This record gives sequence, structure tokens and C-alpha cells, in this order.
Amino acid sequence: MLNGRRLEDLAGHLSFEAAIDHLWSGTVSAGSSQLNDLVRLLGRARQEAFATVPVMLAETGSLSIVERLQVGLSALPISEDLPEAVAITGAFPVLVAAAARDSGGLLPIAPEPALPAAEDFLRLLSGETPEPWTVDALERYLVTVLDHGLNASTFTARVIASTQANMKDATLGAVGALKGPLHGGAPGPVLDMLDAIEIPDNAAEWIASALAKGDRLMGFGHRIYRTRDPRADALKAGLAHVPETDRLALAEAVEQAALTALSKAKPDRVLETNVEFYTAVLLDSIGLDRSLFTPVFAIGRAAGWCAHVVEQQTTGKLIRPASVYVGPLPV
Ligand code: ACO
Repeated sequence: MLNGRRLEDLAGHLSFEAAIDHLWSGTVSAGSSQLNDLVRLLGRARQEAFATVPVMLAETGSLSIVERLQVGLSALPISEDLPEAVAITGAFPVLVAAAARDSGGLLPIAPEPALPAAEDFLRLLSGETPEPWTVDALERYLVTVLDHGLNASTFTARVIASTQANMKDATLGAVGALKGPLHGGAPGPVLDMLDAIEIPDNAAEWIASALAKGDRLMGFGHRIYRTRDPRADALKAGLAHVPETDRLALAEAVEQAALTALSKAKPDRVLETNVEFYTAVLLDSIGLDRSLFTPVFAIGRAAGWCAHVVEQQTTGKLIRPASVYVGPLPV
């Protein structure tokens, strides 16, 4: 749910910008002047962020795309003429696309501010006008991951914001929280798993062997949900519009085998499919390399982090949980 609206009414129905507008303002009104203004401002933010690209790319060739995104974000000037949340949210697609192109030995491409962010991002990556179905699939994904309660990266952003550090510092920290495979970093390993399994008939044996070794199955389990993650279905529904993907049949077979094996291996713990499983299949289907999965998650989640930072700033309270000391006591 996002600001009182169900995910199934948003993903596949709203553009990324309209969903951001809904998250930030609580209203959904396609074609409103408020939404048009947001589209225009996010376009301008992309244009302004492009000036930071040379700084981000200088001497950072050995870093991953996510690390370069952090460098770019650190160097991003926040001008007075754009709201901070707009400047930051708009910068993500530009910095990620430029870092990805440079990592592949390609020159960065300037953003086209009049385009919707998702379409411009795909164009910035490939240099070509993307096919409409790929834009739709990416929009569906970005809307699905826009915000999701107090997950690890959002909590990180909240803690940093609570020290009265600025919004950019908070989102920088949040990006760091995405690097581990337990939050945000699972889709790459999901695809590795599908590659290793190769065909549906291998699924049960491969999964049994992984669980016997004590491995975690990526794309399954969730700290909060004790049911199937509803975002998994929102993303799987997006695959119905993908022209052709033989990964879907494999993914469905692996999912079934995993759920059967997990319910036997952990009968006391509900371990269901989470958002990252079909994220991997959907992002792969639109041709994104797995090195882009975590950065693209950050593009979607940035607006959510900014919304939480604003909310945190209004409380003016420092987040400082108490710890329980279990070490030796002085004699
Ligand atoms: N595969 C196999 N076993 C699992 C899995 C899994 N995916 N998830 C949890 N378990 C097992 C644990 O090994 C543990 O078993 P034990 O009690 O015998 O030691 C038990 O279930 C409980 O595990 P916890 O780590 O306490 O569960 P928690 O709620 O903290 O974990 C998490 C949530 C981190 C997402 C976990 O399910 C996991 O590691 N999943 C795989 C990684 C993944 O898909 N991450 C993406 C999450 S969605 C997102 O962040 C956007």
C-alpha cells in the first residue's frame, strides 16, 4: 500500500512520476498541473545532475556502479532553485546510467528533460529510444519499489536524518545499506541461481543441495511478511507483457521447488517468495545487466527515502536505540 492506495491499483497503472507525486503529496491526479510541474522539475534535476557526471567518473573506474553512484551523489550540488528531494530523486537515473556506460567503456549521454524518467533512463543507458514495453515494465518496477515501510535502507536514511544531517547524506547512507544481499542485493544472486539451475527439471535437486549446504535461497523470506510478498505478484504480472521470456517458465518451476523445499526444511517458519525474485526476472527481461539491479532499485527507492527524511526532519528527534550491555562488569 502507498499512501492509502493498493499496490495493484498503482503498479502498471501509474507512471513513476505520478506515483512519486502520490507518495509526496497524497493525491493521484493524472494530467494535473501539479504532476506536470513534477515531471518538469524532475527533468530539470536530471539535466542539472549531468554536470556532476565528469566529477563522478574521474578516477573511479575501478569502483562498482553503486559505489560510483555514491561518489556522484556526494558531489551533487543542491541548488536553491530545486526542492532537495527533486534534485536527489532526479539525479539517480543520470548518475547510474553514466556510471554503467563508463564501466562498459562508453561515453555518458545527456538527459532529455522532457521525457519521463524511466524512458530517459533506458535511453541514457543504451543511447537508443527504448521500446514502449520495456519502459512500461521499468515503470511498473519503479512504482512497485518506491517505498516500503521501515526497511533497512529507509531506516538507515531515517537514522542519519535524525542527526540533522542533510537529505543527501541520508540517501547516501541508504544506498550503502542496499549493497548486501539480504536487502536489495538479492536479484543478481537470484539470476545466478536460475542460470545455475538451467532447466526446470534440475530445480528440486539444485535447491535441495543448496539448503543441505546451509545456503539461503535468494528471493525468499522476509523480515515482516509471513505470507507471499504482494510485490512479487505485481512484478510477475508485468511479465505477461514481455514479448518472450523463457526465464519465466524456469523461474516458476524454481519458485515452486523452492517453496516446497523451504516448507519442509523450515516447517516452523513461513518462507515465501519476496519482491527480489521476480525483480530479477523482470529487469533481466528488459535487458538490464545484473550489475544494474541494485542501482535500479536505488532509482526507484530514492523518492521513498526522501519522503521518510522529510517526515523524520519534522519530528526533530534523534533516533538512538538503547543497547543491552552483556560484557564483563568492573570489579
Ligand atoms: N533460504 C533459506 N533459509 C532461510 C531463508 C532463505 N531465503 N530466509 C530465512 N531462512 C531461515 C534462516 O536460515 C533461519 O533458519 P534457522 O532458524 O534454522 O537459523 C530462519 O529462516 C530465520 O532466518 P532469519 O535470518 O532470522 O530471518 P529474517 O526475518 O531475519 O530474514 C531475510 C529475512 C534476511 C530477508 C531472509 O529471509 C533472507 O536472507 N532471504 C534471502 C535474501 C533475500 O531474498 N533478500 C531480499 C529481501 S526483500 C528486500 O530486502 C527488498
